[in-house]
This record gives sequence, C-alpha cells and structure tokens, in this order.
Amino acid sequence: MNSKQNRREFLKNSAKGTLGLITLSAIPLTLTACSDGENINTSAMANLGPLEDLKKGPFPKKVDYVVTIEDGWVTQERSGFVFIQMEENNNEMMIMSPICTHLGCTASFAKEDQKKEGITFFCPCHGGEYDEFGNNIGGPPPRPLDVFQPYIKDGEVYIPVLSPTERT
Ligand code: FES
Repeated sequence: MNSKQNRREFLKNSAKGTLGLITLSAIPLTLTACSDGENINTSAMANLGPLEDLKKGPFPKKVDYVVTIEDGWVTQERSGFVFIQMEENNNEMMIMSPICTHLGCTASFAKEDQKKEGITFFCPCHGGEYDEFGNNIGGPPPRPLDVFQPYIKDGEVYIPVLSPTERT
C-alpha cells in the first residue's frame, strides 16, 4: 500500500469522527499544548511523513505537506508547511503552524543577522518575531505560534491542519 492509499484509508477512517481517530492511533508525541480531542476537525489530516524521518534534525526544520480537504461536495488539495522543533531535554516534538498570530501572514525562517538577536521565525507583514520554540518575542504578535496535535498511523505522522491549538 503506497502512502497515498494510506492517506485515503486514514481519511476514510477518520471521517467516522474523533472517536475513530483516537481509536486508530492517538499516540501524541506530546506538545507544549495538547488540543482537546473533541475539537479536532478530522476532515483535513495532513500526512507529514514517517516519524523516523521527522525525528532527524537539525531543528527547527520546515516540513511541507499536501492535504486533501473534503467539505461537503467539494474536495480540494491544499499545500502548506509546518515548523518542527525538538525539545532536547525531554525528547518532545513540537509541530508549529507558520501562521503569524497577529493577523495571519506566514512567518518564515529569520535572516542570519536576525538570528544573532535570538529571532528564529520572522513575519514580514508587521515585523513579528518568534524564538526557536515559536514564542513571540518582538513586534505585534500577541501569543506564540499555534501548534498541532500529532497522530500516528503505520509509523506516519498526521496533523489536523484546520484545527491548530493556541498557546498562551
Ligand atoms: S501578521 Fe505577522 S506581524 Fe502582523
């Protein structure tokens, strides 16, 4: 079974609802903030690839995804990316949304001169600054970058792209 088939089967199963999703996998890698399972939108689970690959640094790193979103009669493919960070002390993986918490622009890796000031992610719209764990450290963003609750099936990591979790 190839990964596209895996994803289809996963989406089919997870369409049964959150309970189905938890039964399937629910092996959180742990996040700094775990979302409440009942609020997870299971209609858009993005496959980030094998867990073993995601665990390889250097961190933080950018991981691209393409997700199929099914909404009523409409099915669309959407591409995006996340930032993955590993907390070395407790081996916890953090999967962060790049969407700036100010007004929703997309943050990207900071330039070299910004990195010297402790800035890892930068939002160019209004100068939003985040550190290596996505904490807001400068500019207008009111809170850290949102995170995703990861789920594992057959060694592959999935995230609910429409249901990021806010951190305070
Ligand atoms: S949208 Fe990112 S700083 Fe305003």
